[in-house]
Amino acid sequence: MSWGIFTKTKRVIKLISISFKKAISQDVDAILAIEERVFFTPWSQQKLLDSFSNPNTHVQLILRSEQIAGYLITLDSLDFTDILTLAIAPEFQQQGLGCKLLDDLQQRLKLCNIQTILLEVRVSNTAAICFYQKYGFELIDTREKYYSNLEDAKILRLHI
Ligand SMILES: CC(C)(COP(=O)(O)OP(=O)(O)OC[C@H]1O[C@@H](n2cnc3c(N)ncnc32)[C@H](O)[C@@H]1OP(=O)(O)O)[C@@H](O)C(=O)NCCC(=O)NCCS
Repeated sequence: MSWGIFTKTKRVIKLISISFKKAISQDVDAILAIEERVFFTPWSQQKLLDSFSNPNTHVQLILRSEQIAGYLITLDSLDFTDILTLAIAPEFQQQGLGCKLLDDLQQRLKLCNIQTILLEVRVSNTAAICFYQKYGFELIDTREKYYSNLEDAKILRLHI
């Protein structure tokens, strides 16, 4: 005779919510904390604060379970927007959040009839270049000695 052992297992379902929020100046320290962790030459607090006062600059946050996980800063012109900076905190990278921020940007741009996204990225930032190219950006130019350390920039473009 054999006995079956039944173990009741509790399945714990963790709900992870993703949301977007337009940043306000009180978010600047949280943005700065990520900025300083992911960039060798991070924006200063003043540069971040200045972007809040420019009506053509948009600072969008991505939240994971209410926590700021990343941000995207864009500058709109008449018929294109320039990505000034985009970052995801290291512990949230490679989980699709960067793509979600770009999806969210596209939705906003469609509403204001902007069909082109441009950006400059350091030639050494191969992870970001892979990320943008995977998303569909094309390389359109290289600007020599674009950065203060004389590093070249790649110019990428996406038509939406
Ligand atoms: C670049 C960055 C924003 C990507 O954000 P992310 O949330 O990690 O990216 P995702 O998870 O949405 O990745 C989407 C795709 O991009 C590519 N990718 C992302 N990170 C990559 C890496 N480190 N190396 C190579 N490819 C990468 C992959 O193809 C990935 O698709 P997969 O998961 O199917 O392989 C993030 O790595 C980051 O904040 N880096 C530091 C700041 C920075 O360099 N910003 C860009 C300068 S403007």
